[in-house]
Amino acid sequence: MSNDSDTDELLTNEQIHLVQSTFAMVEPIADDAAVMFYDRLFELDPSLKSLFSDDMAAQRKALMSTLKVAVKGLTDLDSIVPAVQQLGARHSSYGVKDEDYSTVAQALLWTLEQGLGAEFTEKVQAAWTEVYMLLAGIMIDAAQSAAGTTESQNQEGAMLQQVSNVETGQFK
Ligand code: HEM
Repeated sequence: MSNDSDTDELLTNEQIHLVQSTFAMVEPIADDAAVMFYDRLFELDPSLKSLFSDDMAAQRKALMSTLKVAVKGLTDLDSIVPAVQQLGARHSSYGVKDEDYSTVAQALLWTLEQGLGAEFTEKVQAAWTEVYMLLAGIMIDAAQSAAGTTESQNQEGAMLQQVSNVETGQFK
């Protein structure tokens, strides 16, 4: 049994498979999906719009290519953790707040539901929620370490609670 990593076995093989296979279904319509995602995000919280530059086409590309690397890297989480931490630290410099991660979770899950239709089963939703919570948790922790905060655990706990409310349908 490998016990040398704190990111081992956080996701089941089934969850990884569900996320990778459904991401592959959305990939052919990646740009449309990204348009839907940002439309939904700004509908949920119009104030987030001011954080982004005007070049939304570049933004859509960056988001999708990063998601692709992250989804591929789920089978070897340790290999993507450093990049996810750096991404999290950059996000705090963009003005992203901890609570914004749950708004993004809602927009992402909604977009997947639109793109996947009947394939968006409860198991798929739970697997994506798990993966998002994991990545967002790493990003938030890294952002807080960069900012020298000591309340990391509390704030992250609150965010993760909000994201799991998405999973149980409380935000629908
Ligand atoms: C798992 C979660 C997320 C991923 C994978 C992700 C991915 C990315 C990527 C790849 C970039 C391109 C720039 C860079 O690499 O630093 C970016 C920029 C950005 N993201 Fe995220 N992001 C996530 C969560 C969020 C959240 C929660 C917000 C809050 C609204 C957000 C807002 C932004 C903003 C404002 C920028 C800069 C845009 C610009 O300069 O125009 N992101 N994100």
